[in-house]
Amino acid sequence: MNSNYEAGELLSPFYSPNLGRWTPLPQWLSPAMLILWAPGGFRLTCYYYRKAYYRSFTLHPPGCAVAEGKRGEYSGETTFPLLLQNLHRYLLYFAVIVLLFLWYDVWRALWPQGHFGITVGTLVLALNSTLLTGYTFSCHSLRHVVGGKLDCFSLNATCRVRYRAWSRLSWLNENHMMWAWISLFGVMFADFYVWMVAAGRITNFRII
Ligand code: FES
Repeated sequence: MNSNYEAGELLSPFYSPNLGRWTPLPQWLSPAMLILWAPGGFRLTCYYYRKAYYRSFTLHPPGCAVAEGKRGEYSGETTFPLLLQNLHRYLLYFAVIVLLFLWYDVWRALWPQGHFGITVGTLVLALNSTLLTGYTFSCHSLRHVVGGKLDCFSLNATCRVRYRAWSRLSWLNENHMMWAWISLFGVMFADFYVWMVAAGRITNFRII
């Protein structure tokens, strides 16, 4: 099937999983609308992006060692609407599910015209999924899920496994800002690439 987001075995990451494949949708409803709330909400409530847009758009807080202006009635993320930022830890679970589908799309892209092969599109989708995996697994909330709420890492075998996982996630977490930006550009490029192929403007060259 070809549309502006699907070209043969390639599916744009903004539309994955393609729910329109299983459920007939009304013309006006894009399949992306059923999906994007999860990765979009996850990114919007990300601790790194929060810091960036709070500082950039509201100067609140302005930065480390910079005096606060008058706070007035501002109560931060303890009241509505900023209270919704706390949904981040739940959106994480949905983002992981979407990530599994994106890796499934990479698998599908390994079978152009039904035979094993690697196209430029396969590499674009694989790179995108890798960058999004780096972004998701460097998440502060995931690091807390894996290693938080423990008093002692050496207590038993489970705690030691959690410690090892937490150490690896902490290593990724150190560069969360980098993952945030390169994965954002990566996913936009992957969508653009699939759209160009679907529109017939470029050819998805086969490498193998
Ligand atoms: S803190 Fe950025 S994705 Fe969770």
